Amino acid sequence: MKNIAVLTSGLSRGSNFNAIVDYINNNNLQIEVKFVTINRKKALIQNKCKFYKIPAIFISTKDFHSFEEKLLLLFKKHKIHLIVLAGFMRQFSADFLKKIQCNIVNIHPALLPKFGGKGMYGMAVHQAVYEAQEQKSGATVHYVNENYDEGKIIRQLSVDISNCKSASEIGDRVLKIEHKLYPKTIAELLERK
Ligand code: GRF
Repeated sequence: MKNIAVLTSGLSRGSNFNAIVDYINNNNLQIEVKFVTINRKKALIQNKCKFYKIPAIFISTKDFHSFEEKLLLLFKKHKIHLIVLAGFMRQFSADFLKKIQCNIVNIHPALLPKFGGKGMYGMAVHQAVYEAQEQKSGATVHYVNENYDEGKIIRQLSVDISNCKSASEIGDRVLKIEHKLYPKTIAELLERK
């Protein structure tokens, strides 16, 4: 059995989390989502966690150092093999990244290295893609390092957006392929371990 932890922020809708758990269940994979962290007590994703009976653990990110310390203890306790970011917005310290015993992966809603970096999240990404009149966009799964969206790219999937009339239309199209790409990539990474 391989264990993963999913880290979210208060604004996470939980759609990638949903896709990951469904993929694991539908394919009978030997992967367990041990817990989800939330940094807001009323995070929307809690309902999804309840549905799947996966613990949602609240840890405040206000004191980020203490947040990282608490995570390290949880990763150790639950023997986590892979840390999965799903809408988690903050940057980890170099010290934390040195101390963790496994990889961290993230999904970005565009084709990196374009349209990444600080402030490039949510609709801001799709708006920039729309304004640049790109014909295609996509999703990128990448390792996490100390710089926003700069870790090594693992997999990308692109989608035609040439007939999209707005940034939100692009966002909808990209989200659909995120749900295809992220669970499969996570499963592949864990298989290789
Ligand atoms: C996704 O668009 C992902 O690309 C980004 O954060 C968003 C999370 O969405 N990193 P959701 O909470 O999984 O619906």
